[in-house]
Amino acid sequence: MAFFIPEEKITEIKNAADIVDIISGFVLLKKSGRNHLGLCPFHAEKTPSFTVSNEKQIFYCFGCGAGGNVFAFLMKKEGLTFPEAIKYIAGKYGIDVPAESMTPEQKKRVSEKESLLSVNKQAMDFFCKALFEGDSGKKAFEYLKKRSISEQTIRDYRIGYAPESWNSLYNYLIKKRIPLGQIEKAGLIIQRSNSSGFYDRFRDRIIFPIFDPNSQVIGFGGRVMDDSLPKYLNSPETALFSKSRSLYGLNAARSECRITETVYIVEGYFDLLSLHQHGIRNSVATLGTAITPEHVQMLRGIIGKDGKFILVYDSDDAGIKAAYRSIEIFDRGYADAKILVLPSGYDPDSYLVKYGVESFRKAVSGSLGAVSFLINCAIKKHGLSIEGKIRVISELKTALVSITDQVARSLYIRELAEKIDIDEYAINERIKEAENGRKNGITLYGAGGIMADREAEASARRNASSSGMGKGSRLERQIIAMMLQFPEILPEIIKRDVLSNFADEDLRSIGKAIIEKRSLRGIKTPGVMQAFDDEEQNRIAAFLAINDDAWTREGCIRLMAQFEYSRKRQKDTSTKKIKAAEEIKDEKLLLELLKEKQIQALKKKKNNLKASGGEKLYDKEIR
Ligand code: UTP
Ligand code: MN
Repeated sequence: MAFFIPEEKITEIKNAADIVDIISGFVLLKKSGRNHLGLCPFHAEKTPSFTVSNEKQIFYCFGCGAGGNVFAFLMKKEGLTFPEAIKYIAGKYGIDVPAESMTPEQKKRVSEKESLLSVNKQAMDFFCKALFEGDSGKKAFEYLKKRSISEQTIRDYRIGYAPESWNSLYNYLIKKRIPLGQIEKAGLIIQRSNSSGFYDRFRDRIIFPIFDPNSQVIGFGGRVMDDSLPKYLNSPETALFSKSRSLYGLNAARSECRITETVYIVEGYFDLLSLHQHGIRNSVATLGTAITPEHVQMLRGIIGKDGKFILVYDSDDAGIKAAYRSIEIFDRGYADAKILVLPSGYDPDSYLVKYGVESFRKAVSGSLGAVSFLINCAIKKHGLSIEGKIRVISELKTALVSITDQVARSLYIRELAEKIDIDEYAINERIKEAENGRKNGITLYGAGGIMADREAEASARRNASSSGMGKGSRLERQIIAMMLQFPEILPEIIKRDVLSNFADEDLRSIGKAIIEKRSLRGIKTPGVMQAFDDEEQNRIAAFLAINDDAWTREGCIRLMAQFEYSRKRQKDTSTKKIKAAEEIKDEKLLLELLKEKQIQALKKKKNNLKASGGEKLYDKEIR
């Protein structure tokens, strides 16, 4: 049964919690001005940069970027889930939490997600049982054994078997009185194309349940036991399951990742299980997609700001793709993502089974940062003849240009210069050409992510003027900071419909949550910082709220006007660029620009749709 606490109870507990009080139980805090200061419990430091605001009921560490409300603190410090954090506080303040049963009235309010979780859970139980039943179960069990999966692992990871039948799961769940609609929404059955009835999605496959970080089943992966296709089948995207946000094995890997501040990322279910079985438990697997910014964000929250990512691949080609990608999505790509390519013909699973863990660790110690890896690959490919060197430089141009940190970039240019024995200056000239091309065109990556530490903030500011991209995002950050620190301005934000012009989705949803909570509770009440359920949003909001900037109404209006102006100019230049590209007949650039424009338009449409429901949006955009 799901752990359920009525909303009113949660509010009561939220109101009782005092962040200074709670954090003092873990950290020695000293009053300093309006805030309290202490040594950050999330990273090693000698001078305190961990700041707690009593007034705002938030914490933020200027050293490592950890931040949020009291729940975020407990969840991070003690590894609690949200309900556990609630319970902890209730216990501390002597508030009774009602028994964990649901009245029919409460049951109705339980979200679709919870019912889907329960359907998944029951399906998992069914698959697990089937692995130990009959001849076909035995066949599946033997397959796992052949692949060196131990019985302990089978049990720990709840690996199962979907029988060779069109409706065994269907019948089982229907018998358990689970509504057909829910089974379908969970992606476990598929409607027949002639529309009479349904059939099981997973048939005669080994089943890997996919868990969220709190060990709740959100989806399944299934592998055939012979050469038939597709080799793997995953649950479709559901209200619970999104491949770009889920990682196989994360629930089991979480605490080890936290402790070692390192995470291995592999591509397959068996790779993951093999790593865990060999004691490398700080590893996770993507689910048939490349690693996404969401994955990175999630993992950063666990391994910390300076944590290490090691991406493991089974071929140079896969490694090169990942290296390019990692430069795009790890904003400080030089430091944190290492690429490990195993000898040809091996993936992590087969490598470990054949050579063992010591040898794997040795390979890891030789793994390179993304850019160094790309440099080596390019040299391997083109050689060191004069023509080869020229090709090497031109192949690496894009990668180097996309490194926004100037120091890192110049270090890489030096590395390249040394490796191919060409003057740094000459390489720099080549890069500049590429950069100018880029400034007039498109960036490699999407809208500027949120950088939430001081150093990154400063670098964003530096980059803002050169890329033009960080700028919008900086203004957006300032606007959110203003909304948090100077709520009197919210009516104006609503009136001008400022948020719908935000390019950064995270910041936009933080802004929306602020407005929502304020309109529920009234502008003056504190506690808006309890508004964000999402850990990352919590952290960003804490970062933006913790300062006491001196806002005036005039200043605020100026900021909004500046933002509106910058958006308008962006739109104008985008139109201009398209015209220019048309004139010089640069089809590739033109295509990219048009695509970009289309994406922006779609995003806007989507947001307007999302925001519908009563309040009419002022669509000020003129096209
Ligand atoms: P691979 O085809 O590289 O195989 O798929 P593997 O992981 O080595 O699998 P085994 O060892 O033969 O069992 C890598 C990953 O890509 C996804 C799965 O997540 C798989 O683990 N995948 C692969 C799919 O989603 N669908 C497929 O059809 C194939
Ligand atoms: Mn494999």
